[in-house]
Amino acid sequence: MNEKLNRFYITTPLYYVNAKPHLGTAYSTIMADIFSRYHRYFGEPTLFLTGTDEHGQKIQQAAELSKKPPIEHCNALVEEFRSVWTQLGINYDIFFRTTEPRHIKTVQKVLQELYDRGDIYVDNYEGWYSVSEEIFLTEKELVNGKSPLGNPVVQISEKNYFFRMSKYQDQLIRHIEQNPNFILPQTRRNEVLGFLRKPLTDLCISRPKSRLSWGIEIPFDRDYVTYVWFDALLNYAVAVGLRQPDQAEQFEKWWEHKGGGGAHHVIGKDILTTHSVYWTTMLLALNVDLPRTIFAHGWILNRDSEKMSKSKGATFDPVELVNEFGPEPLRYFLARDIHFGNDAPFSRELLIQRINTDLANNIGNLYSRVSQLVDKYFDGKSPGAGSSDEVAKGLENKTIVLADDLKGLIENWNLSGALERVTGLLSEYNKFLEDRAPWKMAKENKEAAGQVLETALEGLRVCALHLRPVMPNKMTLLLENLGCQNQVFSDTKVFRKIEQGTPIKKGEPIFPRW
Ligand code: MSP
Repeated sequence: MNEKLNRFYITTPLYYVNAKPHLGTAYSTIMADIFSRYHRYFGEPTLFLTGTDEHGQKIQQAAELSKKPPIEHCNALVEEFRSVWTQLGINYDIFFRTTEPRHIKTVQKVLQELYDRGDIYVDNYEGWYSVSEEIFLTEKELVNGKSPLGNPVVQISEKNYFFRMSKYQDQLIRHIEQNPNFILPQTRRNEVLGFLRKPLTDLCISRPKSRLSWGIEIPFDRDYVTYVWFDALLNYAVAVGLRQPDQAEQFEKWWEHKGGGGAHHVIGKDILTTHSVYWTTMLLALNVDLPRTIFAHGWILNRDSEKMSKSKGATFDPVELVNEFGPEPLRYFLARDIHFGNDAPFSRELLIQRINTDLANNIGNLYSRVSQLVDKYFDGKSPGAGSSDEVAKGLENKTIVLADDLKGLIENWNLSGALERVTGLLSEYNKFLEDRAPWKMAKENKEAAGQVLETALEGLRVCALHLRPVMPNKMTLLLENLGCQNQVFSDTKVFRKIEQGTPIKKGEPIFPRW
């Protein structure tokens, strides 16, 4: 039985600990958190990994600047990351650090395995190198004497170790072609296939210690450390037991497709090549399953429509936004306003607009009105009456079919579409309330007023459950006020789940208007 069960293993990128989290890095994490909460809500066993990428030039330089030994610098920033994630309501299962002993040991084991098999070989490297991006570039790849991202490059000539990436090119192309949902969105898949039309070069996976000492030592040459991407990408599989014999069961459960496992990597589009080409060929060389999905999301843009980043300045500090608006409106905005996969602007004005339209005026308003009316006319208890009103019946039908539609949209990574459906339905409930005006009805026909309120309460219950993965605390509070906090996904497929006489709490407004 268990064999058939799909499991959902979702990962964020491992963040460089050269600076504290900003809105761009928070975005990847919040999205992965929301998807993991949805899949858990749908009843799938779920595992959610995030963590930090702690080796390499960038980190060595940041540690030098902070005048700390690299590991102390990393420890301090890891605390910072953990604290920001807690403030944003991130509920990860694994926080993975690439400086963990089991990671270092496994990376070395993998290097040795590939070296022994001839998939890693030594050669002399001559060409251009970008220190800040830690990548090698050919003459042809330079743009006006700089890296394609505009960073300075230096010419080097040195002995290095190479991974035979080119050997796996055809196999990778076949896999992408046969699995249309492997790289998403489709535009990114096409981009990768386009990139793979040119012959792949092999990947330089070592750095001489004379230039960079902060890294995982190459087991067969102590003068070298491992290229940071080769080290960091392995984390996703090491975390669930890759090449650790005592973790075989865990590995089969979360990584291998045959047991219903498989990874879903949420990344930004700037790290698409490293994930869809470097990482996948590494896995092919190791003869283990590829991830099920690599989803490359877009960028949050600054005022000049550029990628919001520390180096460009004008980023938003997620902690400041949380202090001002609370974590959940921010999570909601990012999930609702950005079509997952596309670039999108961020500003305080846009955030405020969304809070007012969807949260304060829609779900917040529905709750306030219904709870106040129930308080006033029904002694604060659910009226619990069925309804013969045609419009109410129509709403009831729309509400109970939403569950499967929502699940389908989320499984296809269409988060904004899913939220649009839920808020669309909430608007219909608000309109229903407006049209029926139970505050007028209550004076002449209390029963009819009770039916209207009951219908609205049910709609509120179902929508709050569906929105809980995005806004866990606020929606739990709302559901507590309706006495429904312990309900689960299957409860949204039926109406009348609030028993007659259930106390309905008239609380503070859930979302203040801005
Ligand atoms: N350490 C590597 C990833 C290694 S994964 C094995 C790395 N780290 S990072 O800290 O620079 O960036 C991590 C993520 O933040 C990326 O997914 C990147 O796309 C995301 N973002 C950084 N700025 C961003 C925006 N302005 N908008 C959206 N996401 C962006 O790369």
